[in-house]
Amino acid sequence: MAPVSKLKIAVLVSGGGTNLQSLIDHCRDPNSPVEITLVLCNVPGAFALERAKKADIPTVVVNHKDFDGREPFESAMHAELERSGAELVCLAGFMRLLTDGFVDKWHDRLINIHPSLLPAFRGLHVQQKAINYGARFSGCTVHFVRPAMDDGPIIVQAVVPIYGNDDEGSLAARILAEEHKIYPLAVRLIAEGRCRVVGERVVVENARAPEGALINPSPE
Ligand code: GRF
Repeated sequence: MAPVSKLKIAVLVSGGGTNLQSLIDHCRDPNSPVEITLVLCNVPGAFALERAKKADIPTVVVNHKDFDGREPFESAMHAELERSGAELVCLAGFMRLLTDGFVDKWHDRLINIHPSLLPAFRGLHVQQKAINYGARFSGCTVHFVRPAMDDGPIIVQAVVPIYGNDDEGSLAARILAEEHKIYPLAVRLIAEGRCRVVGERVVVENARAPEGALINPSPE
């Protein structure tokens, strides 16, 4: 039987790369329809690079500090992404804002993971913002990227409870554990051709959703 071609993805990182690791682990499954062709990092020495090297994945550092402005930096990134043959670009803790021009070039081929239930709590320190607000639930979102920050059609979300004694760290850890499940899931759904952007909503074919409501605090 002819080998089935896999979806080629590039992962953009800036830091520790635990989400990158979840994608690497997913791709190790021979049944995964995804392969990582490049890990691109803007921070020399970031631990994410070690994770990629250990998995024999090509890496490149494109350091924003080496460029005079965002456009030349992004042109260099774009050239590396094209060279890698990436069909989908995954932001995984990539800590630079992208220009509209770059986002438009990768329209519906650029996704991000964010540690809140979008559209609530965009930007940084969103776990603390959810606690400060007294939200009873938070979670994480994988979405297609649009020019506005943390904006775009939602692909997958996971929900976690917020407890009265949570601090930013404990909530971030609870959310991160779910990020590691939903990023590989979202990438797999795209690779299987099951996600269509209709208007500005993602329709997922043959998706199952949990029934019923989550209540926190529970009424006991
Ligand atoms: C994650 O919480 C992700 O949602 C956010 O940045 C963090 C990156 O963590 N965008 P890691 O580098 O993947 O461990």
